[in-house]
Amino acid sequence: MKKIVKQHKKLEKNVTILAIGSLVAVVIGGIVEIAPLFWIDNTIEEVEGVRPLAPLELAGRNIYIREGCNTCHSQMIRPFRDENERYGHYSLAAESMYDHPFLWGSKRTGPDLARVGGRYSDEWHVQHLVDPRSVVPESIMPKYGFLKDRELAAGDYADHLAANRAVGVPYGDDHIANAEADLRTQAGRDGDVDALQERYPGAEARDYDQQPSRITEMDALVAYLQQLGTQVDFSAVEAQELER
Ligand code: HEC
Repeated sequence: MKKIVKQHKKLEKNVTILAIGSLVAVVIGGIVEIAPLFWIDNTIEEVEGVRPLAPLELAGRNIYIREGCNTCHSQMIRPFRDENERYGHYSLAAESMYDHPFLWGSKRTGPDLARVGGRYSDEWHVQHLVDPRSVVPESIMPKYGFLKDRELAAGDYADHLAANRAVGVPYGDDHIANAEADLRTQAGRDGDVDALQERYPGAEARDYDQQPSRITEMDALVAYLQQLGTQVDFSAVEAQELER
């Protein structure tokens, strides 16, 4: 016992030995934390229902980022009671696992949008984007009516999917080959809706902006908004949580 105390005194009094000792301790701690990450593919618990965005939805997400919607709206419901009562079940990591970049944000000039999908009709969204104050008189949100007049610049959606695949989103060759067709089908044009839904379960095909003759940026943005937070069936998730 005395010997150990003596040795420890030596360690404490000699800067060089103390530095080497500290380094060894920190390296062991670091390896314990980092090494497992080399052997596991995924640190996010997968949740049933989460799928990559369909091409029209992805186009809408690109417009959402271009217009800076994420500078006023977060997309992450935190696990606090007030947020859960207002917005719904707190966000799961899996729900944004295919987002590159993620749009969690922390600035909430407007409400969180993580679960806005299905809460309003398409007509409401179009009206709200064209003139927010016509539906929410006290709103300070800017108008985005021009999206209704701009044709969606499609044509390169196979490349968008391929770029997402390069960073880990599991789009298959089939998804990429059919990107343009799926985009048109989801926007309510003639197309194989069953094939679309087989590739993207739950994707809804319709004319989102009430202008059946063309596919506009408004179609894409509303399609994106309407699927936010709808992929996971939370009645099942809550039952699982109760079981634990
Ligand atoms: C300057 C900040 C600002 C920007 C930029 C902004 N919003 Fe908003 N947004 C608001 C505010 C404030 C509200 C709450 C009042 C209202 O409903 O209009 C809101 C409300 C909303 C709602 C209704 C949410 C709910 O749960 O009732 C949606 C949907 C929405 N915004 C979408 C968008 C989209 C899409 C964009 C980008 C095209 C965008 N916003 C850009 C501030 C902003």
